[in-house]
Amino acid sequence: MASHRLKEYNPDTELISGNTIKNANVSANMLRSKFYVCPVCGNVIHSMGEAAIQCHGILLSPLEAETSDEQHMIFTERIEDEYYVRIDHEMTKSHFISFMAAVSSDNIQMLKLYPEGNAEARFKIRGVKKIFFYCNRDGLFSQDIVKGIDDKESEYYYSDERKELEETAKKLFG
Ligand SMILES: [Fe+2]
Repeated sequence: MASHRLKEYNPDTELISGNTIKNANVSANMLRSKFYVCPVCGNVIHSMGEAAIQCHGILLSPLEAETSDEQHMIFTERIEDEYYVRIDHEMTKSHFISFMAAVSSDNIQMLKLYPEGNAEARFKIRGVKKIFFYCNRDGLFSQDIVKGIDDKESEYYYSDERKELEETAKKLFG
């Protein structure tokens, strides 16, 4: 279907951005997904390849994902057919995790988060290879799912008992 193809590739995009965008077969691998966030309104845009995207008159650059650090620790465990993912991070109005996404080669599950909420999500496992999350102050982070660790079935749900253990561990090991 020729008309379908036209929708996926529009050469005008290059004219708007001034950059040459060399996307080839963008649908081949969603693990190469790009995320754009508007610094004015916080709008989040997901793209399967690079694109010229404007919001509030600003040409947005695709975010570069860093590996999660000590201030942005991610905990993943398997609960039945889902990954339960939690980010150890504050959720205040000025500093919070704004979205989380679980990506496989052909699928993305994306969740918007808000201040005062919990920085946690449950994603269907089906082929998920990477978790992305975005901190409004520190940017985009990603973490690969590690086979044998993250997909291990948890023996208990996130509970007060576990919270207590984690707090104790934090006190002991910093
Ligand atoms: Fe942060």
